[in-house]
Amino acid sequence: MEKLFDTDKRVKLGVWGLGRGGNLANYTKIMNVDLVAGCDIHPHMREKFAKDVPGAFVTADEDEFLAQDFDAVLIATYFKDHAKHTIKALNAGKHVMCEVTSFYTPAEGVAVVEAVEKSGKIYNLLENYPFTRQNMYIRKLYQEGFFGDFMYAEGSYLHECRSLCYAYNVSGGLPVEPGWHVHSWRSCFNTLYYNTHSLGPLMHITGLRPVQVSAIPCEVSMPGYLGEKNGRMCPSMVRMSNGGLLRNLMGAGTSDRHRELCLWGTKACVENSDFEMQMRLGACGAGMRLKMNPKWEAMASVAEKTGHCGGDFWELYYFIREILTGEKSYWDIYNASDVTLAGIMAVRSQEKGGVLVDVPDFRSKEDRDKYRNDHGSYAEEFHPEHIFPEDHDPAITGNFTKIMTKLYPLYSGKGLPMLHMACDGMRVYDDIANNDGRILVIAKVGQLVRELPEIAEACREAQKIADAYPDSLPGKMLYGVLSTLDLDWIFDIEGTRAKLYKWLAERKPEA
Ligand SMILES: NC(=O)c1ccc[n+]([C@@H]2O[C@H](COP(=O)([O-])OP(=O)(O)OC[C@H]3O[C@@H](n4cnc5c(N)ncnc54)[C@H](O)[C@@H]3O)[C@@H](O)[C@H]2O)c1
Repeated sequence: MEKLFDTDKRVKLGVWGLGRGGNLANYTKIMNVDLVAGCDIHPHMREKFAKDVPGAFVTADEDEFLAQDFDAVLIATYFKDHAKHTIKALNAGKHVMCEVTSFYTPAEGVAVVEAVEKSGKIYNLLENYPFTRQNMYIRKLYQEGFFGDFMYAEGSYLHECRSLCYAYNVSGGLPVEPGWHVHSWRSCFNTLYYNTHSLGPLMHITGLRPVQVSAIPCEVSMPGYLGEKNGRMCPSMVRMSNGGLLRNLMGAGTSDRHRELCLWGTKACVENSDFEMQMRLGACGAGMRLKMNPKWEAMASVAEKTGHCGGDFWELYYFIREILTGEKSYWDIYNASDVTLAGIMAVRSQEKGGVLVDVPDFRSKEDRDKYRNDHGSYAEEFHPEHIFPEDHDPAITGNFTKIMTKLYPLYSGKGLPMLHMACDGMRVYDDIANNDGRILVIAKVGQLVRELPEIAEACREAQKIADAYPDSLPGKMLYGVLSTLDLDWIFDIEGTRAKLYKWLAERKPEA
């Protein structure tokens, strides 16, 4: 394996929040890093980390954790707690790499920027999407002037995370406990905040910063989300510092888009999706189209084995490199503030119907003073621990998150998504363009035959909870989900299976 750093010095690392944090920490094992401590309030997360990192100190107590002897901390705790935990870790003398985003309110942002400056410690935001091989290649060409001036881009990070409102991303999706609570932030936050994966790559490629944002609210949500404003598409328009525009699309819909970026420059255009990358050359509208297959210039064999198309490797690498060699990383606290503030201001714009809002620059003392006491945040529709009436019966409500993880399992190949794939696939079967597609539908129908009893049982349980608390948020949400289903068809298990068998027997895709 290539030597990653030109030094044998090592960094002692602690990990705070062991879900995403535990996964990321595993990648640092190939760097000059000694993983020495982990902290999580949930026992199942601590158990997993202790197994993955034998000998590390593991605790639920953050003070005990920060008192351990290590140089740097990876913070991957709840989305809204990053500022509080960053400041605490800096005050304990640690360098900080923090998961997205850096802070939740402008006042927290000012406090984090000033804490980083005062501490003299290194701070990096763990924004990984700029570091896919495609985005790093686009950046290189852009910096060489290949695309000309930035005109307009469309960036998307659509990730339908309904299952994570009700379960933790561990061991196949453990239901949130107790079952009448939902996930502390994923269930109720506004996805406009989560803008870094779609704006971050453009900032890194062009070196421009966001200066204004406007977000017209979309008022249609998918079923299965508790809040009316959760589970929707959240587009915004961002004006960049050279006057060019980004259509920045976040949120949840019926087709995820993880790594989509189309960028128009004055000289060339690039269109990059999850599936392929094309460039259009000629500095005109109808230029030559080329399919591209870019490679990383170095360390490809290590990077490609890590998550998020290698982005997870590079974000960790740059942070460790900065500690070991002093070479600066892109995601310092100022660039981190720019991307975070663009999300916060998009939420404010959305709450005012889409007005254009300025994105402050926290490099400037004047801007910081303006927002120093601005603690405003999104007015959440409900509290994740109070979704049922206060006098609810735990014997009924205790099942809620378990039922939701049956209806919407972590991996969408099961539960209601599977039912829709099978039923809607049968509906369009005769018009499917190729045999691979027909085979996929047939496999889903076969799975539905096997798993129909489980789905029927989950629907019955869901109906029980909804009938017990019809006016509660979960009650209304469950009625909404059930109203999209043909329950007579689902509950008639043997009759429906017979119909599905008959349909299968009549379909024979070519081998
Ligand atoms: N960059 C990416 O691609 C990416 C991917 C996933 C998650 N994330 C970010 O990572 C963060 C963590 O996400 P997650 O997926 O692990 O889900 P999560 O938010 O459920 O996990 C947070 C973990 O931190 C623990 N925790 C919370 N408060 C704590 C405290 N005070 N002390 C100790 N432990 C505490 C929780 O028990 C949980 O295990 C989020 O902010 C999310 O935005 C980023």
